[in-house]
Amino acid sequence: MKMKAKVVALSALMATSFMMTSAMASDKTEPRNEVYKDKYKLQYETWHATSESDEIVDVLAEDPNLVVLWAGYGFAKDYNKARGHHYTVTDLRNTLRTGAPTGPDDGPMPMACWSCKSPDVPRMIEEQGEDGYFKGKWSKGGAEIVNSLGCSDCHEKGSPKLRISRPYVDRALEAIDKPFDKASRKDKQSMVCGQCHVEYYFEKTEDRKGYVKFPWDNGTTVEEMEVYYDAINFSDWTHAISKTPMLKAQHPGYETWMLGMHGKNNVSCTDCHMPRVAKANGKGKFTDHKVGNPFDRFDETCATCHEGKTKEFMMEVTHENQKNVTEIKLRAETQLVHAHFEAGAAWEAGATEAEMKPILLDIRHSQWRWDYATASHGVAAHAPAEALRILGGAVDKAANARIQLAQLLAAKGVKMPIAIPDISTKEKAQEALGMDMDKMNADKQRFLKELAPKWDAEAEKREATY
Ligand code: HEC
Ligand code: HEC
Ligand code: HEC
Ligand code: HEC
Repeated sequence: MKMKAKVVALSALMATSFMMTSAMASDKTEPRNEVYKDKYKLQYETWHATSESDEIVDVLAEDPNLVVLWAGYGFAKDYNKARGHHYTVTDLRNTLRTGAPTGPDDGPMPMACWSCKSPDVPRMIEEQGEDGYFKGKWSKGGAEIVNSLGCSDCHEKGSPKLRISRPYVDRALEAIDKPFDKASRKDKQSMVCGQCHVEYYFEKTEDRKGYVKFPWDNGTTVEEMEVYYDAINFSDWTHAISKTPMLKAQHPGYETWMLGMHGKNNVSCTDCHMPRVAKANGKGKFTDHKVGNPFDRFDETCATCHEGKTKEFMMEVTHENQKNVTEIKLRAETQLVHAHFEAGAAWEAGATEAEMKPILLDIRHSQWRWDYATASHGVAAHAPAEALRILGGAVDKAANARIQLAQLLAAKGVKMPIAIPDISTKEKAQEALGMDMDKMNADKQRFLKELAPKWDAEAEKREATY
């Protein structure tokens, strides 16, 4: 309640200062979601209700294999399950992956990391161009990017009209011959989600240094993107144990949805995650903006098309798909964990770059598939057959790597099997990799206490001039 009163006072203040100075930062983007709370009450309230999905699920604790698979990369420090859109900015500040910057030029992450978190991103791009926005470290944007994912990420300013809010997304849609302005209403409903729920990377070329790019130039399947990354010799990081030049898949949800039964029939993301629902007063319908689990509103989602099927039956079908995908996912992980340690042992035994090259390529391609299939959140519901196909490829490529490793290790006189340290919990796995988690956690707490409040104060001052 206290919170609400503050918001009201703040928007009143903003409204007056807007009239006085009319210093609106960008004429295309209103980053402050609260501005629409009266004009679009139902949409605002349901959007705000994404805050109810507040549970933090520590995926590394659930599955410590991941610490080994991402060894040497930020995700081995901290990785939680996605939660409500309301938490995009908070969660990015809180994760150990963004480190503990002390000023605008400090910390491990680049500006591009903000790109799928907030309507302040299109605002900044409109003010400074992509060059200005993408330049510098993540902490440079701390006082700028403060509003959580909201209206202006998906809508034209002050309007129900859908839009693509980032120029790099427009370029990606052009690359696959699906320009947004020529798309059908149905396609647009999925494309707005596809601004963020996709695979992407940060460019390293001189003219577009640090820009977000979707690797879709050859197409959007797992193999087509792999060809793209291999051709430009791209890697996100070098694996700490096997020294493999790795690819980290982001969350190719849009790409995998297209390949599933619903995507093929153009059932849009919003049909299941943002259904049209009846207004409480019985007068017409509106779009429920509480993006979350479709089963929470079964009657307005699945049941609108699958007539006569019960919620229990449909949930059971989905859970079975999830169970099957998890089973093969874990098999791929076991193979990959062994492959990384065996490759590490081969290096120790004096293997040469030339001997290791084909092995590391198999490890790279295997883990890319595993990550692609599992990081595309919801894939088991969206495209279970595609997920299983991709994971089958992951198991196969890891097996190829391990056959070659067995031969190489034998030739070097190394005794098999290669021992794996105790990685039965997240903590043990992180310790086995020599990660100093106490220090990282303490640094993060200092950042949250010292720098983050300064960002908020600075942002409040800036927004007061709008
Ligand atoms: C993640 C994307 C997304 C966000 C964030 C979002 N919307 Fe929407 N909005 C949509 C989609 C999709 C539709 C349905 C468009 C259609 O029917 O084709 C929609 C529809 C609407 C409509 C039309 C009436 C209706 O209910 O269908 C209004 C008004 C609206 N949104 C307001 C808002 C406001 C205000 C916010 C911020 C508080 C917001 N939206 C945030 C995607 C979004
Ligand atoms: C501007 C980027 C962006 C857009 C646009 C976007 N999302 Fe998200 N979405 C995210 C991020 C980031 C998270 C994770 C938030 C967190 O964990 O803090 C997320 C989380 C989710 C979740 C998990 C929610 C939960 O409660 O567990 C679902 C489901 C989802 N998004 C679906 C959609 C759908 C459907 C659309 C289109 C209508 C959409 N998203 C548009 C960035 C985006
Ligand atoms: C036919 C319905 C349907 C369509 C269409 C659909 N989804 Fe989903 N989605 C689901 C279901 C069901 C789940 C799994 C919910 C569960 O059991 O956790 C899910 C899960 C997700 C998750 C993971 C949420 C989490 O907390 O793990 C995300 C993110 C997501 N969907 C985004 C999208 C996006 C983006 C699109 C469009 C490109 C889309 N979905 C299209 C039904 C759908
Ligand atoms: C807008 C319509 C629509 C909605 C909403 C919808 N579906 Fe479907 N679903 C389809 C269509 C079309 C097919 C393709 C087969 C067919 O024609 O029956 C399908 C097929 C399926 C299949 C079979 C998939 C396969 O690979 O053969 C399952 C399972 C399914 N849907 C589950 C769900 C669940 C769960 C939800 C809600 C989260 C849902 N659907 C929401 C239209 C819809």
